[in-house]
Amino acid sequence: MIQMRILFINGPNLNLLGEREPSVYGTTSLQQINDRVRDRAREAGVEVVFYQSNHEGEIVERIQKARGQFDALVINPAAFTHTSVAIRDALIAVGIPTVEVHLSNPAGRETFRQKSLVSDVVVGTISGLGEHSYYLGLQAAMEFGKKKE
Ligand code: DQA
Repeated sequence: MIQMRILFINGPNLNLLGEREPSVYGTTSLQQINDRVRDRAREAGVEVVFYQSNHEGEIVERIQKARGQFDALVINPAAFTHTSVAIRDALIAVGIPTVEVHLSNPAGRETFRQKSLVSDVVVGTISGLGEHSYYLGLQAAMEFGKKKE
């Protein structure tokens, strides 16, 4: 029985994972991460859907469409983490429990990465653990998403 539906949203340049700055972001591709998330979700009886876009407005629209469709969101807004009031506002507007994830630990990087515009509107943030941030993000979403009885 499917207990929950969780949407994973990935922002700009994350389609290049595996090739992009591997010393920072690792050698695993987004497809591989998604497959590993899906395997874990299947074991838990949870349905997962994956979305990636390099465009801020498209991400805003995907968040809006998630309303009433998903019990939790896991989002890596990538560079938009540090710039996007629009993504922040969309998350507030839909009110779906959201987990913010990052592969790297932005708190230990350049000053401009140290501010997240979404971290105070999400349930929690998991960062610095490479691909494991996503697997723990799934667990957090299962724990803190809207549960069906
Ligand atoms: C990132 C961190 C961001 O600062 C950066 O712009 C990214 C990836 C991460 O997962 O570590 O694209 O969100």
